[in-house]
Amino acid sequence: MVYVTERKIGGRDYTIRNATRLDSPNDIEFFEEIAREFPDTSTDAPGEFSSTFALENAESLEQDMGSSKALYLICEDSKTKEYVGCGAIYFCRQKRRAHTADICNIATKKEYRRQGIASAIIEELERVAKNNGVESVCLVCMAPDADALHFYAKRGYFVCGSMYQYLKLEDGRYVTAYYLQKYLK
Ligand SMILES: CC(C)(COP(=O)(O)OP(=O)(O)OC[C@H]1O[C@@H](n2cnc3c(N)ncnc32)[C@H](O)[C@@H]1OP(=O)(O)O)[C@@H](O)C(=O)NCCC(=O)NCCS
Repeated sequence: MVYVTERKIGGRDYTIRNATRLDSPNDIEFFEEIAREFPDTSTDAPGEFSSTFALENAESLEQDMGSSKALYLICEDSKTKEYVGCGAIYFCRQKRRAHTADICNIATKKEYRRQGIASAIIEELERVAKNNGVESVCLVCMAPDADALHFYAKRGYFVCGSMYQYLKLEDGRYVTAYYLQKYLK
């Protein structure tokens, strides 16, 4: 799926476009950074989302884009091309599930937060979803992540379920995952 749109966010110009395999190194570096920042809510253990996953990541970005069943968006500064955030949507293949889609990997680089970048990315994903006949979107959010829960709640997402002991951290603590849903129409 080819996607590109220009957005003015907080007075600056950003390009929101689909990822390609060339984005893989930036994507990996970014999620390693996020895992270091949020060690208790990251699905990947420290160092797990490392360069050993580089090829897999590149291939999956490419396959996802080629399948028309997913859209992985990167937000970059239009001038400097710096990778500042991302977000993805995965559509369901089965006819009975085609009215729903999963959103994941919503994140903004620390120094670019609170400017409207994640809001712009999620709006784009929801727009694409709606245009493809999707009626409701779902995502998973880890429990202690109050900021993220607040972010989604303000954008119309509600908690529709949870899974206790979703993650088991290295020190034996468990983390609950919340399932969030939003009706698009
Ligand atoms: C949660 C997260 C994605 C939000 O990203 P973000 O780019 O900062 O999000 P936005 O800027 O669109 O919105 C964040 C807040 O900034 C506010 N904001 C937006 N533009 C603003 C501006 N120009 N000035 C000040 N605040 C602003 C928004 O109103 C919003 O506050 P609200 O939720 O009270 O309405 C980000 O904190 C993040 O990457 N966290 C780590 C990864 C993560 O937790 N991802 C979710 C996993 S499920």
